[in-house]
Amino acid sequence: MNYRHAYHAGNFADCFKHALLVELLDSIARKPKPFFVLDTHAGAGRYDLDDEAARRTAEANSGIFRLLERPSPILERYLGLVRNIGLYPGSPVLTRAVMRHGDRLVCCELQGDDAATLRGVFRHDPRVEVHERSGWEALNALLPPREKRGLLFVDPPFEATEEFSTLVDGFRCAHARFGHAVSAGWYPIKHMAPVRRFHAELASSGIRDVVTVELHLREPTNAGRLNGCGLIVINPPYQFEDQALSIATAILEGLGDDEAGKAAFVARLVDE
Ligand SMILES: C[S@@+](CC[C@H](N)C(=O)[O-])C[C@H]1O[C@@H](n2cnc3c(N)ncnc32)[C@H](O)[C@@H]1O
Repeated sequence: MNYRHAYHAGNFADCFKHALLVELLDSIARKPKPFFVLDTHAGAGRYDLDDEAARRTAEANSGIFRLLERPSPILERYLGLVRNIGLYPGSPVLTRAVMRHGDRLVCCELQGDDAATLRGVFRHDPRVEVHERSGWEALNALLPPREKRGLLFVDPPFEATEEFSTLVDGFRCAHARFGHAVSAGWYPIKHMAPVRRFHAELASSGIRDVVTVELHLREPTNAGRLNGCGLIVINPPYQFEDQALSIATAILEGLGDDEAGKAAFVARLVDE
């Protein structure tokens, strides 16, 4: 396991997945009943974009720093949280910012240092648990929760080529145990062949009500480069597709250069 999120924090993929995560959480938090969140690949929680790791790749320069310079109104909710939290917030810290008194968050992180940092971030918050264990296992072992409503946020590092299939298996397992949860899974787009196979695998998985939101910074034809990314959402909340399209379009307008093939769209993979 080589992936360390500190090198990538605040990049375009983070902005995309985090703005959509906040939209999903806000929709769920509109109803008063408590909700549960499982963040299967949680990272360290927050990131100093001035530290050595972040400066070495400078990925935030073409990500969050650019969005903060010319903020789009549709991204204001997410950018406001980033500004208020100070250090760049990862998915668990954004989730905690939206949670209310009775809501609960369980985070899994396999990398020991990052799990320890995350535990430190939440040490005074009894609503949050941090496990140094595989998030894939947790989709089986920790579901269903006692709460009736919830969000599963699955954000693997995609270091291994089979991770697309692992993600489908993870969704299948979670769906069998907590079928009415909203589930969101991030994926990279380098070229389209593996993405098409992934969508086909999901479409034949038996899971219903599946949409995807994609952001292409350029034509996805170079297998050696992250040309875009996507977020699968199962059981999307009411009006999520319209909101997601506005969010992805605003991110593309804020971060996309004038490259051929740039696009932002929402597509339905499986009907309700
Ligand atoms: C893309 S990063 C997560 C970023 C985080 N979700 C965020 O948005 O701030 C992926 C994380 O998964 C961790 N990881 C890798 N394999 C894992 C596994 N099987 N279970 C849990 N965490 C894992 C990595 O150490 C890394 O911190």
